[in-house]
Amino acid sequence: MKKVTTSFLPDLLFLVPGLFLLNCSVTGQDISRESPALPENVNKIVTASCMPCHSSNGGFLSRGKLNFTQWTQYSSEKQKAKAEKMYSLLKKGSMPPKSVRKTRPEIIPTEDQIDIIKKWAESLTTENK
Ligand code: HEC
Repeated sequence: MKKVTTSFLPDLLFLVPGLFLLNCSVTGQDISRESPALPENVNKIVTASCMPCHSSNGGFLSRGKLNFTQWTQYSSEKQKAKAEKMYSLLKKGSMPPKSVRKTRPEIIPTEDQIDIIKKWAESLTTENK
């Protein structure tokens, strides 16, 4: 009886991590199919100034057009197009919207922050999807 236990146990010990590794490698492939996340400096600006509206917790209209919670699920083409639109609206001062610029002026990105968005938008490529 003792013999059965000792030969059966190692099999189990191999099987369990094996299943775990298999599961991880499948997840790993899914991750590699995602588009890049926001870089840290951009993420900081977006989190403070844009995500109150442009996230899954945001307004219906704003999150429908641009949802940073789902950013990595956007194709690289879509990421680049949205990033360029972000810069163009920031440059014109039309985002965040007028109403919020009055009530929460502290969330309006500074010139330096707008410059960070500009450089980031320019750096995005649509290659290597
Ligand atoms: C108070 C809520 C609010 C905040 C804060 C806000 N937005 Fe918006 N944004 C909206 C709404 C609402 C729309 C849709 C407007 C429309 O379609 O007329 C929009 C639309 C946009 C669009 C157009 C998307 C498209 O594809 O048409 C961009 C780009 C955008 N916002 C960028 C930003 C950026 C960048 C920030 C942060 C600096 C920001 N927004 C902050 C509410 C907000």
